Amino acid sequence: SKRVAILTSGGDAPGMNACIRASIIACQKANYTLLGYKHGYNGLLQQEYIPLSLDSTHNLIQQGGTILHSARCKELKSHEGIKKAANNLMKAEIDTLIVIGGDGSFRGAAEIGKEWKGQILGIPGTIDNDISGTDATIGYFTAIDTAMSSIDKVRDTADAFERIFLIEVMGRNAGFLALNAALSSAADYVVVPEFFESADKEIEKIVTQIKAQRALKGPVSFIVVVAENVWPKGLSGLTEELMKHDISDVRPVTLGHVQRGGSPVAQDRLLATTLGEFAISLVGSDITNIMVGEVNQRPVTVPLHKTWENTKPLNEAHVEAMRTLMNERYSSW
Ligand code: F6P
Repeated sequence: SKRVAILTSGGDAPGMNACIRASIIACQKANYTLLGYKHGYNGLLQQEYIPLSLDSTHNLIQQGGTILHSARCKELKSHEGIKKAANNLMKAEIDTLIVIGGDGSFRGAAEIGKEWKGQILGIPGTIDNDISGTDATIGYFTAIDTAMSSIDKVRDTADAFERIFLIEVMGRNAGFLALNAALSSAADYVVVPEFFESADKEIEKIVTQIKAQRALKGPVSFIVVVAENVWPKGLSGLTEELMKHDISDVRPVTLGHVQRGGSPVAQDRLLATTLGEFAISLVGSDITNIMVGEVNQRPVTVPLHKTWENTKPLNEAHVEAMRTLMNERYSSW
């Protein structure tokens, strides 16, 4: 019988618990012991783990966050940290380590894989969707939904006052969340890193669009979705630029960590559940140092290093739709 350990690391994402639940049940069926390291890799470094049994699975699928807690672990960035992690896995007689997280977590896992002979399986969990080799990551769909309904609400007040709103969404260095939140909430403009050339070029497009719309329809609301980490000096930088073009009464909204929380939507629960079950089905095989993912609705395995070496492109159809719908006449985006 195998000893499996699981941890959640980096930014938590809705659906991580659904994935833990599926893993617990699948392990129970296969007669494997499942341990949960707490607080991401910190738990592994401190040997802080708990047994995970069916008792923990009740009402778990719908819970946001992660019952194992998460962390970004500095110590694991050093060689000593990696050695210690490998040693602790050996001491705890773990056969398989499962890491639910994003690219930083996978890099750590790959390093451990150089020092430890056991099996390592990654499961993509991040609201950013910035992991290559899988169509989606656990948490992404819920985050789109949260951002979308927040933007819907902002639109009500934006319309009432015919105001311009700048809404910053998360995504780290990728525009998946921003693009899809913008598309699904019918935002007027979106700024994503994938298409950002310079603040000057971008501001020109935004101003042209706002002025064109206002010339056409009179005072109207205008919603710009801005991916985080793109605009120099963020939303205040963009507000300043707009003021230079005589556009004032602009309101900034940063959605922030709201986007990380909440009960996972069905798509995230399904992805989390199938990937958790699929990962456990690989336990004991010679498949290791991989991430399990989903491509075209089928489970796949991808070497860990490929998940961060290749840059995942935005969905072409979504890009095209946004281009058309945010009024191509005024934009060369
Ligand atoms: O990776 C998830 C994420 O929420 C990113 O979208 C964001 O850039 C980052 O984490 C925020 O990190 P923290 O919670 O450590 O502030």
